[in-house]
Amino acid sequence: MKNKVNRVVLVGTGFVGSSYAFALLNQGITEELVLIDINKEKSEGDAMDLNHGLPFAPSRTKIWFGDYSDCKDADIVVLTAGANQKPGETRLDLVEKNTKIFKGIVDQVMENGFNGIFLVAANPVDILTYATWKFSGLPKERVIGSGTILDTARFRYLLGEYFNVDTRNVHAYIIGEHGDTELPVWSHAFIGCRPISDVMKENSEYKQEDLDQLFINVRDAAYHIIQRKGATYYGIAMGLARLTKAILQDENSILTVSAYLDGHYGQNDIYIGVPAVVNRNGIREVVELKLNDEEKEKFNHSASVLKDVMKRVGL
Ligand code: 2OP
Repeated sequence: MKNKVNRVVLVGTGFVGSSYAFALLNQGITEELVLIDINKEKSEGDAMDLNHGLPFAPSRTKIWFGDYSDCKDADIVVLTAGANQKPGETRLDLVEKNTKIFKGIVDQVMENGFNGIFLVAANPVDILTYATWKFSGLPKERVIGSGTILDTARFRYLLGEYFNVDTRNVHAYIIGEHGDTELPVWSHAFIGCRPISDVMKENSEYKQEDLDQLFINVRDAAYHIIQRKGATYYGIAMGLARLTKAILQDENSILTVSAYLDGHYGQNDIYIGVPAVVNRNGIREVVELKLNDEEKEKFNHSASVLKDVMKRVGL
């Protein structure tokens, strides 16, 4: 029997998709990478360009531009297709257009016998992840959205700068909608193993208003970047590569993704950003934090905003 190699199919080779492909190749995360895009020439050009980097890559990746029939043997199908925000637009403004695009894509993936894990990274990501789950009929644990993986990364980066420690030693989460109603979980934010509240008490230079502003900078980061360069892609691409690695290497890593809630955090029938354990089977479990009352209220508000939009588009 032929040894099964890992195959990732990427649908959408725009800025996010092609940056993700580049990250996968650079880190040697998958053995096969198939590129699909509505603009075939673009994905063909991307495949050629990426292949020319192979002599410099840490391991062999077979890359080609393909079609939906390649999804049959895929372990992961990554969806980065769809319209993205123009300056001034919110993520939720994209919902109608991208839900329609997703219906067409997910149907074609499923018609070709796909039976792996969907990774969704187009906006509004929580709603498109729910739509992908509905359209595909796959088990909820095998449909994952990028959720607040990027917001959490932005948060950890800025906290690392503020407290002058390696961002990898900052343990803190952004949860909720990947968008304007997201929230920081200050009640469970740590530098190393020390609560941030303890670290704050030790040095009068640290100020609560700085942390409040830091979160606002996290929440609004995409707007600031889009204003300057039209789109965001490197951060999310690295987050998606991290998620891909957690799945293919069966890591049981805790990452903030858009996961299906079935009573967790008091919510049902919704995909939203929460910490979850990710492995070869997708989402092993949602990690439930004991939120304080203010966090609970903000999380419920974020969920209700998503639910209202879902209702509007008939999900
Ligand atoms: C981001 O947060 C636009 O959702 C994208 O960078």
